[in-house]
Amino acid sequence: MLARMAWLVGVLCHVMFREAVTSPVEAESRSAFSAARTSSMVGGPHMAVTFDRVYVNIGHDFDPSTGLFTCRVPGAYYFSFTVGKFPRKSLSVMLMKNRREVQVIVYDEHHRQERKVRSQSAMLQLEHGDTVWLRLHGDPKYALYSNAGPYTTFNGYLIYPETPSSSSSSSSSSETADISGQSAAPRQQKAWHHGTEGGNSLELGLAPPPGREQLTARSGKQRDPRSAFSAARSQSLVGEDGDKYKRQAVPFDTELVNIGGDFNTSLGVFTCRVSGAYYFSFNIGKLPYKTMSVKLMKNDDEVQAMVYDDSRSKRREMQSQSVMLSLTEGDHIWLYSYQHEGYGAYSNHGKYITFTGFLVYPDQQVADCQSEPPNKL
Ligand SMILES: *[C@@H]1O[C@H](CO)[C@@H](O)[C@H](O)[C@H]1NC(C)=O
Repeated sequence: MLARMAWLVGVLCHVMFREAVTSPVEAESRSAFSAARTSSMVGGPHMAVTFDRVYVNIGHDFDPSTGLFTCRVPGAYYFSFTVGKFPRKSLSVMLMKNRREVQVIVYDEHHRQERKVRSQSAMLQLEHGDTVWLRLHGDPKYALYSNAGPYTTFNGYLIYPETPSSSSSSSSSSETADISGQSAAPRQQKAWHHGTEGGNSLELGLAPPPGREQLTARSGKQRDPRSAFSAARSQSLVGEDGDKYKRQAVPFDTELVNIGGDFNTSLGVFTCRVSGAYYFSFNIGKLPYKTMSVKLMKNDDEVQAMVYDDSRSKRREMQSQSVMLSLTEGDHIWLYSYQHEGYGAYSNHGKYITFTGFLVYPDQQVADCQSEPPNKL
């Protein structure tokens, strides 16, 4: 009898979940594209990078002939792009939101012959009608390289559609935060140089994880199991000797997305509120004549290391990495840049330093399903 009941609940659960996934409403709120360009492009008056090969275009929100993604479903989107450097040309490609610059890929060694490929990614909060596109520098000294290989690709997909209940929890300060990048700097400098003394185990200056009551109160108010952040830093980090400031997180000054408010931008620390599998990616620039050594940290452990160990090079370089992690409530995820003389990470208004993370699957899905109708994401 009990087994039969469990079976019935299972079937019900399955049917309801399927319903949630395939209902017309859900289908209409799908948006994803992936496109490639199979020829090179030289800087000129027409700066939008266009595409001639489309792999995915769910919702038809991407127009390959103009290179414009136009938001139909408001929400948080993840974008990534890869561009090739043309031999003996400079590379400067900017991810644009409407007329605003979000994130750059630069490679400024025009006299070098070799081809190179660079990747970047960020999450953006979009309103209906917002456009997202890639802009190649308009000067003919600049070019991007591609061929049938293709070296140049552009992808984007909707992670969380905006829902009436979620609009308050999403970031509305992104526009101002971005424009006032300079004035936000003092706050960020403060966090970097004068972080709170010692205190808790992580030296991150964080309050202890919220207690039980606090959490139930919060989850009672916010049923939405969504969590996503994307932040950028518009200034370089330069390592200094001295153990006083050991192991502090890389702080950020620009918040692109912060759904659920789980990322403390000025500290640079993500605190897991919803247990589950999360995807993280980060992009870092290399300072001329410095070594870059940045680690993705989970609590006190190094999860993934990024290194560019050539302090003799005067070139600016960029690197991108990503990883998926299983997190439980209270886990901290942060970036650590080696804080010693000779080390550093480069950024400027082009935002070479970015950090993105989002919940892919919450752990509680099955449990939620058995106790109540499934939440529509
Ligand atoms: C970030 O953390 C600092 C230090 O714990 C705290 O003072 C600040 O209020 C936090 N910011 C947000 C937005 O929670």
